[in-house]
Amino acid sequence: MHVAVIGGTGGLGAHVVSELLNRGHQVRVVSRSAPDLMRANLTHRTADLSTGVGLDAAFDNIDTVVDAVNSQKQATAVLVDGLRRVLDAEVRAGVGHHVEISIVGCDRIPIGYYRAKVEQEKVLAAGPVPWTLLRATQFHSFVDAPLAAAAKYRISPHSRAQFQPIDVGEVAARLADAVDTGPSNRVPDIGGPTVYSLTELAEIRRAHHDGHMLAVHIPLPGKAGRAMREGAACLDDTGRRVGSTYEQWLADATLDAATR
Ligand SMILES: NC(=O)c1ccc[n+]([C@@H]2O[C@H](COP(=O)([O-])OP(=O)(O)OC[C@H]3O[C@@H](n4cnc5c(N)ncnc54)[C@H](OP(=O)(O)O)[C@@H]3O)[C@@H](O)[C@H]2O)c1
Repeated sequence: MHVAVIGGTGGLGAHVVSELLNRGHQVRVVSRSAPDLMRANLTHRTADLSTGVGLDAAFDNIDTVVDAVNSQKQATAVLVDGLRRVLDAEVRAGVGHHVEISIVGCDRIPIGYYRAKVEQEKVLAAGPVPWTLLRATQFHSFVDAPLAAAAKYRISPHSRAQFQPIDVGEVAARLADAVDTGPSNRVPDIGGPTVYSLTELAEIRRAHHDGHMLAVHIPLPGKAGRAMREGAACLDDTGRRVGSTYEQWLADATLDAATR
């Protein structure tokens, strides 16, 4: 199949590209900058979702589009208005399936970026292209990044906010499954095997790196903070728990860094 991955250079997108290439698909990355490494059966087209420039040339001869674009700073312009531009371009190009990724609990946690993700889901569901939507919990690398940044200052951030981090590779594999299966609308949410508080994640990291750190309580005020403490970012009973724990991921990431 000919598959375009918008945002195919990003944290999730690069894994989706590898997964699709390994399954024998012809893959086209669509993003503002080209991938660092080009491989057999991989091409690149430049496009900017915030303006629509490049989108008309991006999807010619493409069967399915996977959307792994992200923008925290321009969430509405890129994720919501950008998706409208993408779907219009897909109709003009005759694309038959659009695969979208969203976030577990985005409709239960009232922060600006999550509101944009909910809007993005609505644009997809009301749009003209047959679709599949997968919601995933936060990636291990995403929850680890602020802990790593704080650790540089010997700070261990503590909070009762709940997370259920997942391997990004598992998310990429489910998106590739969606490509192979065809339009399925909303599919079951996925998340990692274990729910942790931020305090537990920070303590696992501190113990792993055997560091002496100052525990600093992070206040998470308002409705969003309460929702996070109540586990709104974690799976409910219908979700699927997959992949490695944060402890396993941390051990693998440390080994990777040491052998690089
Ligand atoms: N991070 C998490 O924990 C998590 C959890 C669940 C779901 N998700 C979802 O997964 C998706 C990908 O997230 P990520 O963390 O992998 O993102 P990321 O690493 O920040 O990658 C973003 C990608 O979007 C492209 N991009 C950004 N602005 C663009 C624009 N204006 N036009 C075209 N391409 C643009 C970037 O390439 P260029 O800069 O070269 O254009 C890059 O390839 C998002 O929908 C996010 O909500 C993330």
